[in-house]
Amino acid sequence: MPTFDGAPQVLCVVGARPNFMKIAPVMRAFARPGSRLGARLLHTGQHYDEAMKHAFFQQLGIPEPDVDLEVGSGSHAVQTAEIMRRFEPVLDERPPAAVLVVGDVNSTIACALVAVKKGIPVVHVEAGLRSGDRTMPEEINRLLTDQISDQLFTTERSARENLLREGIADEKIHFVGNVMIDTLKFNLPRATPAERTLAVFPEARERFGLLTLHRPANVDDAETLQRLLKVLVEISGELPLIFPVHPRTRKAIEDAGLQPLLQRGRIHLMEPLGYLEMLGLMQAATLVLTDSGGIQEETTALGVPCITLRESTERPITVEEGTNTITGSDPEVIRATFDEILKTGGKRGRVPELWDGRAAERIVDQLESWLAPISN
Ligand code: UD1
Repeated sequence: MPTFDGAPQVLCVVGARPNFMKIAPVMRAFARPGSRLGARLLHTGQHYDEAMKHAFFQQLGIPEPDVDLEVGSGSHAVQTAEIMRRFEPVLDERPPAAVLVVGDVNSTIACALVAVKKGIPVVHVEAGLRSGDRTMPEEINRLLTDQISDQLFTTERSARENLLREGIADEKIHFVGNVMIDTLKFNLPRATPAERTLAVFPEARERFGLLTLHRPANVDDAETLQRLLKVLVEISGELPLIFPVHPRTRKAIEDAGLQPLLQRGRIHLMEPLGYLEMLGLMQAATLVLTDSGGIQEETTALGVPCITLRESTERPITVEEGTNTITGSDPEVIRATFDEILKTGGKRGRVPELWDGRAAERIVDQLESWLAPISN
């Protein structure tokens, strides 16, 4: 058990868009009255665009980062190495009691690796999720981060089984629920009404589907991207689709010259949206088509049908108990699933265990008894 003088400080790390929703409730829980732990926030700068970063900090009430490493984009090796290089002196200058990382992006593994080699305990929020697909960069990040973490907080029961199978000691694992859903519940009353976001698309006011696409496996290969967009254009003949476009995907569409294909359908492209706008759209959508991890969970929590355009999911509970269906990128399967949802309204899901808006409080409770057991 680590012991420290004074209130132990936890250094929390964010880097990319899906991290921001996860860290917001954690920072709030650290700041609650009577807290026995201090927290500082570090942003690696992996995502830096206004639409990919600033809107989220503002909308989610995340404090300005104490440190911004401003790494920006690069190949996986360059990005990961650059984060590590810039993170080390931050730890040297002011060693925290623990480094807390969330999710599965490059910033997660990079900072965890630097910390563990300096003997600083690592806390991983959203541990133990496994797609079984090692061609996904996130799967590698998940596996490695969990191996070097000292406290592992999980969102669903299957995660513990995955971790035990990989040799992680049971006492390090804590099933606490889902911080992404903490953020969803906290912000639902403030969600931007869909009508406002869709004011420029009158035909989508009645009914619409929401589309997001950014996985390298779907967008980096021109042929796969074209096959996907073709079936989506077809689908949009029956249900107009709203498509906030990730910068990686916009570039891929342009590089592959697929704009004319898109113009054949009723797919409305937008810049990436803020969290509150996305939440409003998700809530009002007839269905959601996505390859995102977090959106599979958010649609399950909202009870909105979700078609996941991937071959596997690391979040099986969204399929077993929620509203999620995995289709991969096969146009016939996508089409058949879409038709079924339009006809029947889709699966009736239920909200998974402990997705109750209090996961971050449970995390900080556990960290207090681990890091500050006698300071009260
Ligand atoms: C990253 C995460 C992914 C997550 C996604 C959410 C990894 C391995 N991947 O993928 O798990 O689902 O974030 O968005 O960490 N770009 C900009 N502006 C930005 C950020 C990126 O234009 O603010 C462009 C750059 O051209 C960059 C590309 O997007 O090269 C990809 O960014 P990167 O952070 O490498 O990965 P994502 O695809 O965003």
